[in-house]
Amino acid sequence: MDFTAGRLAVTILTLLSLTFSAMAARDLAETFPSTPPAVPASIQVPRYQLVHTVFAKGHQFYQFNGSAWLQFNATAKLYDIQNHEVGSHFYLPKRDALGGQPTWQSLPSKGVPYFSSVTCRPVSSVVVDKASISWVLLETTRSEGDRKYFGEVALVQRYETKGGLAPTSKQARAGAIRKSRYTSFYSFYVNSSSDFQHH
Ligand SMILES: *[C@@H]1O[C@H](CO)[C@@H](O)[C@H](O)[C@H]1NC(C)=O
Ligand SMILES: *[C@@H]1O[C@H](CO)[C@@H](O)[C@H](O)[C@H]1NC(C)=O
Ligand SMILES: *[C@@H]1O[C@H](CO)[C@@H](O)[C@H](O)[C@H]1NC(C)=O
Repeated sequence: MDFTAGRLAVTILTLLSLTFSAMAARDLAETFPSTPPAVPASIQVPRYQLVHTVFAKGHQFYQFNGSAWLQFNATAKLYDIQNHEVGSHFYLPKRDALGGQPTWQSLPSKGVPYFSSVTCRPVSSVVVDKASISWVLLETTRSEGDRKYFGEVALVQRYETKGGLAPTSKQARAGAIRKSRYTSFYSFYVNSSSDFQHH
């Protein structure tokens, strides 16, 4: 019974995401946030220089520990304002030495010629919409690769989130995993002292 319900849920999710893709392609440019993005004071980035904003579409992953759903991963595709896929978001299998785990990677592609990545740990977060995951400020623990993309990023903001919340049902076996569809924007900042040139 669980299996059938699961299949149905997956089918519905797939249909929703197909519908969403068609809408996103048309509307993405119009929904891209202002520069700098309007966010609550607790996650603002006053002293840094904004270098990229991307739209993310993917899933937050939760595991049930017997009493609570704990978020342990996220995967998403990243799109620029022209709706070109420019990279991906995921969690490293384990936290790095400085506690970083969420990672953003640029794709060697037309939009982004070289590989780069940045790994962060959260600094502060704020719930803006109770039906969606929080808005978050994260700081870099590790970055590498092309300095024109993520290579010199110092801070990341997640904001304008939609969805991604943990399941509400406690009717699950310990160890069960569920994914929850979400979208958000991510903005990437370098230190203002950097000699980074924005293109
Ligand atoms: C499950 O996670 C919650 C929230 O972190 C914690 O309070 C609880 O002790 C955990 N339960 C088990 C069985 O680990
Ligand atoms: C998150 O999912 C990605 C894609 O499946 C995987 O490469 C990564 O190792 C996962 N991270 C964790 C912490 O499960
Ligand atoms: C940005 O500046 C802060 C404070 O000066 C420093 O701790 C951090 O390592 C810098 N980050 C990068 C990616 O250069």
